[in-house]
Amino acid sequence: MIKCSISDVKQYEGQEVLIKGWLYNKRSSGKIQFLQLRDGSGFIQAIVEKSRVSPELFELCEHLTQESSINVVGRVRSDKRAPSGYEMDVIDVVVNQLTEDYPIALKEHGVEFLMDNRHLWIRTERQSAILRIRHEIIKSAMEFLNNHGFIKADAPIITPATCEGTTDLFEIDYFGESAYLSQTGQLYAEACAMALGKVYTLGPAFRAEKSKTRRHLIEFWMLEPEVAYLEHEGNLELQEKLVSYIVESVLKNRILELKAIGRDISALEEIKIPFERMSYDDAIKTLKNNNFDIEWGDDFGSPEETFLANLYKKPLFITEYPKHCKAFYMQPNPNRPEVVLCDDLLAPEGYGEIIGGSQRIHDYDLMVQRLEEENLPMDIYKWYLDLRKYGSVPHSGFGLGIERTVAWICGLDHIRETIPFPRMLYRVTP
Ligand code: 4AD
Ligand code: MG
Repeated sequence: MIKCSISDVKQYEGQEVLIKGWLYNKRSSGKIQFLQLRDGSGFIQAIVEKSRVSPELFELCEHLTQESSINVVGRVRSDKRAPSGYEMDVIDVVVNQLTEDYPIALKEHGVEFLMDNRHLWIRTERQSAILRIRHEIIKSAMEFLNNHGFIKADAPIITPATCEGTTDLFEIDYFGESAYLSQTGQLYAEACAMALGKVYTLGPAFRAEKSKTRRHLIEFWMLEPEVAYLEHEGNLELQEKLVSYIVESVLKNRILELKAIGRDISALEEIKIPFERMSYDDAIKTLKNNNFDIEWGDDFGSPEETFLANLYKKPLFITEYPKHCKAFYMQPNPNRPEVVLCDDLLAPEGYGEIIGGSQRIHDYDLMVQRLEEENLPMDIYKWYLDLRKYGSVPHSGFGLGIERTVAWICGLDHIRETIPFPRMLYRVTP
């Protein structure tokens, strides 16, 4: 007997296979039962025809309940109407566990109820499709970087200092001393770039932001490439190549999942390099011309980002923000020191910022000055200053927010569906 996963049934047309999975749903029309099976790799309809199976097997199938774990033996048959193109005719079923009183019926439920049952909610077709697409995004991003000579160099989660501002830090007791959960792996990625040239970190980031929005998680994952001898312009090119590769891979390898969640595929097909670009100065002009109450020097909120991004079908880089809007480590434009060589990449369709990146200050004295201006403790950054002391070079990098990217590529209304177990303001369970 061939044991196969649902995603592989196309290789076994006409053959008998064994699928180990769960009953997702069931319909019956008296003489025929339609079992919808899932096994983690996909979904398939299995047909039980009264005239073709034993009375015992037919009866057993009648008593199967949603989410019972079962082994199903059946013959694979192509069927144009099936989303995957295949169905199977059931030959035998073995029940592993008959589920009773499954709490999540396949109908509309309130969000709080679903969030309380997130551990079960992820079994649904829609949620599991999103998580498969999330996997494809992470896999393809790493594949792109690995193929371009990047070394994965992981950053610590427990850190002694802040990087992205002091207001949203999670403090922990580190054997009697204060330490913090990492907001970003960047500072460590910079050190690794000086050792290894091209590196990336991929890990969780923590921000105790008291914002309850569709775009914010308290714990999220960030992919952070960092490259020695790379300047601002090259940094933008790296970002657009990476993001277009990710979208291309999802379209190529997860089209069934995109269809299952009803994503507008044509919008994703627009995502080709080069991406759109606009300076912060021009963004302010555009916003003012469109009746936004905003002045040069103000940061953008999500209404501004959404408006700007909606001008285009492709992602939009906003470049060179005022220095005071951004983190201490960003390199000023040498011709205009009031702005920094940075970018936010805004996804189209109103998804807002998915990347924040910049060229980093590589001059020792300037870095000391910026740390002082921000009142950051010099002793804790001594090692970071060493990078500016011993063979310092221009370097650049960025952080791609995994969940924001998943929300955009999947076309989701809310970031809570982009990660198996979201951590949000007022929610740490399950
Ligand atoms: O723009 P941010 O804060 O940049 C950094 O942390 C840099 N140190 C990265 C670097 O240059 N290596 O965050 C980067 C991205 C954002 O564009 C967004 O996609 C995501 O991380 N992000 C969040 N995602 C979900 N919830 C939050 N609270 C997020 N905060 C940032
Ligand atoms: Mg940012």
